[in-house]
Amino acid sequence: MSSTKSGTAASSSAPAATGRETLTIIDNRNGRQYEVPIKHDTIRAIDLRQMKVHESDFGMMSYDPAFTNTASCISKITFIDGDKGILRYRGYSIEELAEKSTYLETAYLILHGELPNEAQLKEWTYHVTHHTFIHESIKKFLDGFHYDAHPMGMLISTVAALSTFYPDAKDIFNPESRRKQTYRLLGKMPTLAAFAYRHSLGMPFIYPDNDLSYCGNFLNMLFRTTELQYHPNPTLERALDVLFILHADHEQNCSSTAMRGVGSSHVDPYSATAAATAALYGPLHGGANEQVLRMLVEIGSVNNVAAYIKRVKAGEKLLMGFGHRVYKNYDPRAKIVKRIAYEVFDVLGRNPLIDIALECERIALEDDYFVSRRLYPNVDFYTGLIYQAMGFPMTMFPVLFAIPRTSGWIAQWQEMLLDSEQKIARPRQIYLGHDLRSYIPPDRRG
Ligand code: ACO
Repeated sequence: MSSTKSGTAASSSAPAATGRETLTIIDNRNGRQYEVPIKHDTIRAIDLRQMKVHESDFGMMSYDPAFTNTASCISKITFIDGDKGILRYRGYSIEELAEKSTYLETAYLILHGELPNEAQLKEWTYHVTHHTFIHESIKKFLDGFHYDAHPMGMLISTVAALSTFYPDAKDIFNPESRRKQTYRLLGKMPTLAAFAYRHSLGMPFIYPDNDLSYCGNFLNMLFRTTELQYHPNPTLERALDVLFILHADHEQNCSSTAMRGVGSSHVDPYSATAAATAALYGPLHGGANEQVLRMLVEIGSVNNVAAYIKRVKAGEKLLMGFGHRVYKNYDPRAKIVKRIAYEVFDVLGRNPLIDIALECERIALEDDYFVSRRLYPNVDFYTGLIYQAMGFPMTMFPVLFAIPRTSGWIAQWQEMLLDSEQKIARPRQIYLGHDLRSYIPPDRRG
């Protein structure tokens, strides 16, 4: 990097290309010219710091609330092209994985970078399956919750509580320890979620069944009643598995950023996962699937859609399940979810709310408000309809997002830990508050 002094103003006509992978910046406050390296179409924010008017200045920073144009890491996990509607895990298209893979195989891919061979998949499945039991004391935490406690609150609390049962998880730079916590987190998240659900119903907890698949066992723990062995409906089991594939990772979203940020303090992965789960809970993120259903219920009839859209355009409401920070095209996951919805309805009967959803989509995709803002259905728009048809209460919808996203969170966390450029996350601020002032005793304050 070089810094040169130049008194000349920037020319308005386009200068000739130099072929250099650098960006020249002229600071018009003092005429200084800087040349900073460009790599991957990106400059390093720290290279701005040398730009000062006075030697005592702190130096230039970039201001980017909500990180709309700031890369916080280099990643090899998930690729998204938001304009083209492309999503890939480790180079494999989401469409192909949804068609040919299983959730556990995809989780392996996301975490290890490559698809497993047969022996690796067998071993991986064995270990995840044999880490599904939770300590009996966790049940006491669940018993402490009110019957109508939101299951996301219960999940956040109990996954955080896991850190107290596994102090070895603090050994985060030990690959063996990380492997063990990965099995535990993937294995136990469905159990915690199912137990939270059963608690809300006042029904006895159902223990994991190792003869079932990842999703088959989850359905067993949720829905088994008096049968000696639970046999999941294969269409529903596969539908849930595909939904889990679609939700496994989504690069630097709000909850992955929470996972990386909290994990950057070198806390154990259970505490970081609790933070990521909390981030996912919000209605603008994973909580949106619950809000979509509430919205469809509120709209109530296809005839009311136009009036509702009018309120959205007036800024009174959000069309939940629409819009995305990255996708400015149809979310590729939403297309697959829409197809699965019909497969599930073939087994369980049509969810009547689908007609309201379709009408919302039809109007929105033709309306200039949505077209000009490039707002399309996101993954959450149709998932709730499937979950409701499968018998889940709305409060469980974000939980059904958190379970599969755990593989992505762990992969992001591990990548962050092993990246020698990463440090504890600590953004800067622009302070615009008071300058130094003197304390005034209460009786002398106006
Ligand atoms: N309904 C109505 N208007 C919307 C919506 C929506 N769902 N989403 C965005 N807009 C409007 C905004 O009001 C804004 O309009 P303006 O330019 O007139 O001010 C414009 O579109 C751009 O929106 P931003 O909020 O700036 O976009 P941002 O990238 O910050 O937000 C977000 C993305 C949070 C997903 C937003 O689209 C939203 O709130 N959607 C509804 C909630 C939702 O579905 N969240 C799930 C996202 S997917 C996931 O997390 C798994």
